[in-house]
Amino acid sequence: MMSPGQDNVSKMQEEFAVDVLKGLSQPVKSIPCKYMYDEQGSELFSQIMDLPEYYLTDCEKNCLESHKEIISDTIGPSNINIVELGAGDGMKTKILLKHLLECDHDLHYCPIDISGSAVANLSRSLNREYPDLRIKGLATDYFQGLTWLSQQNHAKKLILFLGSNIGNFSPPEARDFLRHLRKSINVGDYLLIGFDLKKDINTMQSAYNDSQGITEQFITNILERINRDLGGEFELNCFNYSSKWDNFDNAIKSYLISICNQQVYVRDLLTSFTFKTGEGIHIESSYKFTIDQCLVMAETAGFEVVENYFDDRNYFADSLWIAN
Ligand SMILES: C[S@@+](CC[C@H](N)C(=O)[O-])C[C@H]1O[C@@H](n2cnc3c(N)ncnc32)[C@H](O)[C@@H]1O
Repeated sequence: MMSPGQDNVSKMQEEFAVDVLKGLSQPVKSIPCKYMYDEQGSELFSQIMDLPEYYLTDCEKNCLESHKEIISDTIGPSNINIVELGAGDGMKTKILLKHLLECDHDLHYCPIDISGSAVANLSRSLNREYPDLRIKGLATDYFQGLTWLSQQNHAKKLILFLGSNIGNFSPPEARDFLRHLRKSINVGDYLLIGFDLKKDINTMQSAYNDSQGITEQFITNILERINRDLGGEFELNCFNYSSKWDNFDNAIKSYLISICNQQVYVRDLLTSFTFKTGEGIHIESSYKFTIDQCLVMAETAGFEVVENYFDDRNYFADSLWIAN
């Protein structure tokens, strides 16, 4: 694995500090959700994927199991570099990798993830399970990953962006990100991208309000991380977790809500932040899509939709796009 290196670790730490200072100084407080994924956050997210309420994992597994042959036939039997953005534990990706290897595809696989522990664990487990697979993991942000991607040779590529990671961007951010991604690859390269589709509100809300409280721990981990990494003094029991459907934006929005008037000091930022009772910190949005929106997103970014692959319940789509 290409690890971040000491300089990069300090740089990531500095960016975290700058983003926390900026986010908690705004009139509507927020912290970018990418900071939930340190080692503890990645571990908690793996637990979320096993929860009965978190239907996204089973749906996407079902999509990939049902359509792996057609995906493999479509991208053709050539050498292919697979680059995955936000790979996480790669549990679903392995369905595709296993099938492609069985079909004698000559594969390079590059998982890119902001979580160094996620990339290290995934690379280790793939080395064990598929010794013939050539792996080069990158522990970095999506945008630095795209810079690296744009410097690669002209070998054919399949980019994976699974798990509805795209849903964590606001619509303008998603449009800009997909355009940037398109510019980083070549005509004829493929993108397989996961979309969580709009469905009944209870099903969507339950996925973010599980009965075991794991999602709450996952979201709250961002305050623990500020305490651990930046010398913050957040008292976790002074914030409540809230996750609700926003009908206007078509997204589940997750917040940590202050239960009292309080001031919280963060040593490394030399700053105290004031919270009023009921004031929220926005942590994550999870946008949901219609299949027509996916088509518009593809075309706006410079892709053509090759095919949409759905799970048995039509809850989720993995959409295969080609760069044109
Ligand atoms: C919702 S999880 C999904 C993981 C995996 N794609 C799946 O479907 O199981 C999002 C993953 O993207 C990574 N991630 C989030 N924001 C990122 C960013 N800005 N740059 C790189 N990786 C990011 C997280 O560390 C996490 O592993």
